[in-house]
Amino acid sequence: MRKNLGTQPALFPMPVVIVAAYGADGSVCAMNAAWAQICDMDKIALFIDKDHKTTKNIYETRAFTVSIADVPNMAPADFFGIATGNKMPDKFERSGCHAVKSEFVNAPVITEFPVALECEFAEEIDTPNIHAVVGKIVNVSAEESVVGDKDKILPEKVNALIFDQYRNGYFAVGEKVGQAWNAGAGLMKETGK
Ligand SMILES: Cc1cc2nc3c(=O)[nH]c(=O)nc-3n(C[C@H](O)[C@H](O)[C@H](O)COP(=O)(O)O)c2cc1C
Repeated sequence: MRKNLGTQPALFPMPVVIVAAYGADGSVCAMNAAWAQICDMDKIALFIDKDHKTTKNIYETRAFTVSIADVPNMAPADFFGIATGNKMPDKFERSGCHAVKSEFVNAPVITEFPVALECEFAEEIDTPNIHAVVGKIVNVSAEESVVGDKDKILPEKVNALIFDQYRNGYFAVGEKVGQAWNAGAGLMKETGK
C-alpha cells in the first residue's frame, strides 16, 4: 500500500552547498543552500532568497563560489545556514573558515571545503514561482586529494554532505553501486515483442 503525503518538497537527496561572495567592501559572506542544481554544462542555479546577505553580495560584485560541504566541515556549513550576515557582520570570521580570492572570478574560495565551482553571475530569475540566481561556471578548483586520473573528481574522497528535507538531517554519501548510462543498458536489447 502507498500513502498519500500531500504537497511537500519531497526530493531526496539534496546537496549541501556553501555559496560565498564578497560584499562591495571586500568582506566575505557565505550561506548554506540545499536548493541548488546544475542546469547546463557550464551553469548552476541557486534557489536562494533575495534578502540573504550573500545574495545581496552576489548582486553587488556579480560573482560567487559554490563549495560542496563535506562531513568534516558540517559545523561551519550548518552555521552558514543559521547565522545571517545581515545581523552578524563578522559571520564568516566566526565560522573559523578561511578564504582566498578565486583566480578566475571576484569571489572567495573557502579553503576548508574540497571542491569549489567558481562562477560569474549570469542572471536572476524572478517570477511569481521562482527566485533563482544563475551562475556561469568559469572554473572548478579542488583539493588534489579528491582529484583522480584525468582530473576527475572522486566522489568517494569528497565526503559530501547530503541534506534530508524530510527531517532536516545531514547524511553522508554511501558507496558506488553502478555506472550511469550502463546500469539500464540491458533493457535496451530487443525483447521480441
Ligand atoms: C541545510 C540548509 C539548507 C538551506 N538551503 C537554503 C536554500 O536553498 N535557499 C535559501 O535561500 N536559504 C537556504 N538556507 C537558509 C540560509 O542558509 C540562511 O537563511 C542563512 O542565514 C543566509 O545567510 P546570509 O544572510 O548571511 O547570506 C538553508 C539553511 C540550511 C541550514
